[in-house]
Amino acid sequence: MASPVALLRSLVRLARRLRFRLEGRAFTHVPGVMGRWPQLAGAGTLSFGPGVVFRSFRTPVRLEAGHGAELAVGPNVFINDGVNIYAARHVSIGEHTKIGDGAMVYDTDFHPVSPGQIIPVEPVTIGRNVWIGARAMVLAGAQVGDHAVIAAGSVVRGNVPARAIVAGSPAKVIRTFDCPDDWVRP
Ligand SMILES: CC(C)(COP(=O)(O)OP(=O)(O)OC[C@H]1O[C@@H](n2cnc3c(N)ncnc32)[C@H](O)[C@@H]1OP(=O)(O)O)[C@@H](O)C(=O)NCCC(=O)NCCS
Repeated sequence: MASPVALLRSLVRLARRLRFRLEGRAFTHVPGVMGRWPQLAGAGTLSFGPGVVFRSFRTPVRLEAGHGAELAVGPNVFINDGVNIYAARHVSIGEHTKIGDGAMVYDTDFHPVSPGQIIPVEPVTIGRNVWIGARAMVLAGAQVGDHAVIAAGSVVRGNVPARAIVAGSPAKVIRTFDCPDDWVRP
């Protein structure tokens, strides 16, 4: 017989599953929600690995995948207050990655710079165990290596090597560090 705590947990999971269902969304793995409910938008595909957690007490998190696009959030990813992620084609976020308050991830620039320019759309890949600092921006075409750290407020476009800390706008490598492949940042 299940303990009262286990029973309560199952009920919470069921309620979450039902709420996502009511919004027309069904996930194999239903994310955990601390605080405000995330806005999950767009006609594209959103997918979550097991153990994904949204935490937002002030500003809701918003994830959107446009028509035909895919936004794939890997296992145990932690998404903090006010994060905004938009996939026009493809955004993937590796397992155990942490995304700080107000950070933004876009795989499109949304607007052209000048008449006749094609709006840039380039997939974004974020590796495993990456730490994206508060209010950082990860722009179209960014490829972020495993374990990398994006300092608070940085603007990333292009490649961030694995195990590197990048800072500033445009973000530059400030140092690199060692860690085992399977390390998970606490
Ligand atoms: C990057 C960070 C982890 C510090 O890493 P660190 O290796 O200890 O870096 P240091 O503090 O030694 O700074 C190294 C250099 O980078 C610069 N730097 C550090 N953080 C920076 C930032 N956010 N933007 C611009 N430059 C930054 C420092 O000024 C320093 O420059 P200098 O060598 O010219 O003096 C930290 O500054 C940071 O941004 N943390 C994110 C915190 C956060 O957003 N948490 C969200 C909650 S999930």
